[in-house]
Amino acid sequence: MAGAASGLGLPLSTQAAVAGAAAQLVDGHEYQVTVHLKVNGHAQTLRVDPRTSLLDGLREHLQLTGTKKGCDHGQCGACTVLVNGRRVNACLSLLAMHEGDEITTIEGLGQPGKLHAMQQAFLDHDGYQCGYCTSGQIMSAVGMLKEPWGATDAEVREAMSGNICRCGAYPNILAAIQQARKSGGA
Ligand code: FES
Ligand code: FES
Repeated sequence: MAGAASGLGLPLSTQAAVAGAAAQLVDGHEYQVTVHLKVNGHAQTLRVDPRTSLLDGLREHLQLTGTKKGCDHGQCGACTVLVNGRRVNACLSLLAMHEGDEITTIEGLGQPGKLHAMQQAFLDHDGYQCGYCTSGQIMSAVGMLKEPWGATDAEVREAMSGNICRCGAYPNILAAIQQARKSGGA
């Protein structure tokens, strides 16, 4: 299987992941991989082109469109999801590398009527304008609060610097994060 993956011109680490995810020959030319993962608590089995990003897997194969595609180059943070509890830019990560992983998207964070503390805080502080960056901001903030950052506004701004808001809602986003931190529900 590793030999099959090596023909894709992928980095060695990716080839190993692809091989581990059961790469198979299709129509004599193309390879697909089968990936088993848990998304928002539900077991999923996806059969995809090994070049499929985690972002495209979520949006195009599972129709979880709450995770947004902004730059698709790891520069804006709109695609942030949690992988085994840690924040990840889904556009930079191949789906095939997530065999057995637990993924949480904005759809799995809270539900209408039972919002996650971070979602409620963004509502309370108007932490958005157009909303395009918001799911990424919220997922990133939830992951960030589990990381060893300090609690000052300056440190939160630094820790969230990978999430760009073109509307400039930064003061409200910061206020929302600090509220969620103080509520202890994040
Ligand atoms: Fe992934 Fe911009 S879409 S970082
Ligand atoms: Fe519009 Fe952030 S609310 S990009």
